[in-house]
Amino acid sequence: MLLTAEDFEQEADRLLPLEVFSYLAGGAGQETTLARNTAQWAEIGLMPRHLRNLAGGTAARQILGAALAFPALVAPMAFQRLACPEGEAAMRLAAAAQGIGMVLSCQTSVAPEDLPQAPGPLWFQLYLQPDPQVTRALAARALAAGAEALVVTIDAPINGLRNREVRAGFRLPQGVQAVMMPPPPQLPEGGSLVFDGLMALAPVWADLAALCAESPVPVLAKGVLHPDDAALAIEAGCAGVIVSNHGGRVLDGVPGVADVLPAIRARLPGLPVLADGGIRQGSDIFKALALGADAVLIGRPAFYGLAVDGARGASQVLRRFREEFEVTMALCGCRSPDEIGPETLYLKR
Ligand code: FNR
Repeated sequence: MLLTAEDFEQEADRLLPLEVFSYLAGGAGQETTLARNTAQWAEIGLMPRHLRNLAGGTAARQILGAALAFPALVAPMAFQRLACPEGEAAMRLAAAAQGIGMVLSCQTSVAPEDLPQAPGPLWFQLYLQPDPQVTRALAARALAAGAEALVVTIDAPINGLRNREVRAGFRLPQGVQAVMMPPPPQLPEGGSLVFDGLMALAPVWADLAALCAESPVPVLAKGVLHPDDAALAIEAGCAGVIVSNHGGRVLDGVPGVADVLPAIRARLPGLPVLADGGIRQGSDIFKALALGADAVLIGRPAFYGLAVDGARGASQVLRRFREEFEVTMALCGCRSPDEIGPETLYLKR
């Protein structure tokens, strides 16, 4: 019986070709950060409170104008047609069915115009491109298709070295591609591929500020781990930040999100802060909120749901997150997400 995110992960592992599962599940380097991402939530305890009247309670929350049935959105993940033929279109339906948002990756394998009309927030993730006109065009296309916020991922100017995926020989299968993206830029021959090639084209804070100044919708910076970078993102004009290490897929050895979340929350009082990475059950969402997040992103588990049973599978995974979150809220005596604070945790010292 498939019940939890873990069950769906095992089933996806059984169903998908090894190289595809390695692309989805794998992380950078020795996968130390990948392992940390799930371990960090497990290390945090909960402190139950009893006999409170919680009648009329709710898991719902608004964030940047987006109404969420519980405080989560599906993380931006590339190439969802690797999981099922409908790809991102199925993910959009699953998120809408559970009343939460979806962040569409700019590396989507389904064009934004081809997503089904569905209730629930749609945000669009993009990378700042070497040519600002290209960045602008990507954002404009997504906004025309209904995106209500932009998520700029700042932690991956170059690809992580994902050994598991390389060893498994992952390549995009015929017919699955990043349908919105222009071909990658020609890199100069000779010199350092990193410094003379990719980093010579990589964006800087001023590029983020230029996009924020033009954007008609709120912009969030995704991939922040240092409190100073959180402050710089707000200075650049971002409405909020997403604390994330990209699911351990870029630089191995960086901290887990729970490790740095309290310091970033303290640096940005009152501003939207989301947590992304290693969320595998509803109680992890609860813990992220207790450490200061307004909402979380759910990554791989939703992809695994899609791989197991298309929109229905992803929807089942997301519904389970909600049930687990509501049970955790109730047993910790919280009537709404606003009541989830550090005092709801049991932190061993
Ligand atoms: C990602 N992630 C990602 N992030 C992003 O900003 N743009 C992207 O295109 C992608 N693509 C992508 C593909 C796949 C297969 C995975 C697993 C992840 C990172 C993603 O948004 C998120 O940060 C992590 O997935 C969070 O970690 P968990 O929840 O998967 O542990």
